[in-house]
Amino acid sequence: MTLFIVGGAGYIGSHMVKLAHLAGHEVITLDNLSTGHKDAVLYGKFEYCDIQDSNRLSELFKKYQPDAVMHFSAYSLVGESMTDPYKYYQNNTVGTLNLLKAMIDHDCKKFIFSSTAAVFGNPEYTPIDETHPKAPINPYGKSKLMIEQMLEDFDSAYGLKYVVFRYFNAAGEDLDGELTERHDPETHLLPLIMQTVRGEREVISIYGNDYDTKDGTCVRDYIHVKDLSRVHLQGVEYLMQEGSGDSKVYNLGNGEGFSVKEVIEKVREITGVEFNVIEANRRAGDPATLIASSKSAKKELGFAPQINKLEDIIKSLV
Ligand SMILES: NC(=O)c1ccc[n+]([C@@H]2O[C@H](COP(=O)([O-])OP(=O)(O)OC[C@H]3O[C@@H](n4cnc5c(N)ncnc54)[C@H](O)[C@@H]3O)[C@@H](O)[C@H]2O)c1
Repeated sequence: MTLFIVGGAGYIGSHMVKLAHLAGHEVITLDNLSTGHKDAVLYGKFEYCDIQDSNRLSELFKKYQPDAVMHFSAYSLVGESMTDPYKYYQNNTVGTLNLLKAMIDHDCKKFIFSSTAAVFGNPEYTPIDETHPKAPINPYGKSKLMIEQMLEDFDSAYGLKYVVFRYFNAAGEDLDGELTERHDPETHLLPLIMQTVRGEREVISIYGNDYDTKDGTCVRDYIHVKDLSRVHLQGVEYLMQEGSGDSKVYNLGNGEGFSVKEVIEKVREITGVEFNVIEANRRAGDPATLIASSKSAKKELGFAPQINKLEDIIKSLV
């Protein structure tokens, strides 16, 4: 297959590029490097492209005629989306609309989309399955839910077939040591803790200690980036099957929740390093608990996470 990996210079996209290349596919990364890194694209070809630029997209679709598009590019800082929603609707929602238009214009009708647990907002029950009500509490989640809704209409009207994956918390690094997580600013818990362990940061902050959870801190479900990449390949293979039929939406996680305090303790235990922790105010837009039910992805796609213990995810960072 010839695959466009849009956002392939980012954290999750760069792992996807590697896995798809090693699986024998022709991989072309499209990225504007706004938050990604060109040196993270270790395999296949790289084409500078902003998905807001229709002419450039058209040029690249003509040049490569991809069989499918995997779309990882987005802004994804919840707090920033609360203070600058325009940036999120413009880059995520409008940008994706532009990308979908280019796909339809060039008769490319297989699409894999990175959505998020943020489309659910504050859960009514956990583990969260695909039918859980969608009520995002921040513009980031709303910008992604709008895309999911657009996809339903693009399927009905133009026959675009898609698999949407809603990730809970992507975590971990490449087991071969080739790829790391490099967000700037970094907001994800595990890389922040590891920076503190390495002495690159003086202290790790716990945002909120009064949530309705086991120890008052937020509870999250962590999934290793390699397991995420593997299931994306299964998703694209499903779409490429002759007469594969329906578009699909899957939640992806390990089905187990860990509080911020539990994650910190686990890192201390594994690394043997004592580091400073402070308790700070809640961050706007953070739900108390997010735990996924991935039963559908397991049953229908054969999703089988291999690095599914928090301990093993942490060990991939050490
Ligand atoms: N990291 C997580 O835990 C997590 C959880 C849920 C969902 N997601 C989603 O997964 C996807 C990837 O997340 P990530 O953590 O790898 O993010 P990232 O910021 O590391 O990667 C995003 C990539 O998209 C590129 N990009 C952004 N806007 C672009 C544009 N207009 N044109 C072309 N390229 C553009 C960036 O340069 C970057 O390389 C995002 O869509 C994110 O919303 C991530």
